[in-house]
Amino acid sequence: MMTMTPKQDTMAARQDTGQGTAKQGTARQQETTIRIPGLINDLTLMHVTDCHLTECDERETAAIREAARNRAKVFADQLDGGDTTLGIFQRFIDDSNEQQVDFTVFTGDIIDFPSQANLETIRAAYDRLNSPFLYTLGNHDWYFDGRFTDEVRAEAYPQFRDWISTTPGCDVRTVGGVKLIALDNSNYQVTREQFETIREAAALDEPYLLFMHIPMYLSGLVKDVVDKWKAPILMGASGWDPEVREAWQVRHQDESTGEFCRWLASPDSGNIRGIFCGHVHLNHTDAFREGRYQYVTASGYTSTSRLIRLIAD
Ligand SMILES: [Fe+2]
Repeated sequence: MMTMTPKQDTMAARQDTGQGTAKQGTARQQETTIRIPGLINDLTLMHVTDCHLTECDERETAAIREAARNRAKVFADQLDGGDTTLGIFQRFIDDSNEQQVDFTVFTGDIIDFPSQANLETIRAAYDRLNSPFLYTLGNHDWYFDGRFTDEVRAEAYPQFRDWISTTPGCDVRTVGGVKLIALDNSNYQVTREQFETIREAAALDEPYLLFMHIPMYLSGLVKDVVDKWKAPILMGASGWDPEVREAWQVRHQDESTGEFCRWLASPDSGNIRGIFCGHVHLNHTDAFREGRYQYVTASGYTSTSRLIRLIAD
């Protein structure tokens, strides 16, 4: 995994166009402004993704502690001198509190694996967060032993029950007349039940934002993703090499996932005002429907987050 240089960050920030605009902030904070007709009060949201915490202690087996040390080294090599994934994550909580945002959304891979120490760390952090928040899982929040399977995810889910109401998650909150939807697509799939929850929320015609770990496949995004990861690790992606797909443990697409992607890209997705995701560890903005944008945010461990300003049009 490569760390983005400040120059790359700036270039990525300039890609925000149309309804969204962006500028380079402190600590590589991306800024996105979305104009929403009829919005009564302006809102500010903070989006955090892919912090990959590697906290681990003697409560885990020796094999897990060894694996955790190896993963910690992977990230340590990419951090500014003396910084830690934990320190960066705690600063995001501080930033959210200091900026007095109306809502914070965490879109997965906040922890690199669900060790007891990692789970305690995020619980304490969420407890000191002043804003309401949503947390949806990435493939790393639930992965532990090299298996990225639906069974492993289902087994891990009870540990996240205080924050996510269904398995797989699809939680909806309303803030200032805007619906925020946190969707767990961390196995690259969306179930019929999840799709139905989102379709019901969309049918109310209130503006809504969708937050999920894995970005939707877009032709303008896939090249950057394949350049970085050598695989199209996107929801609804076509063009997988079968061996590469197997190595990534990405199973074949469910019909409901394909239907959901087509629905998002069509006017049927109604008053959606943005999709926000992570997973691929790069900043990217591209339209998924005329005038509607998918904002991919780089990994938290590069000190990148995204401030989302919703303003009345
Ligand atoms: Fe990640």
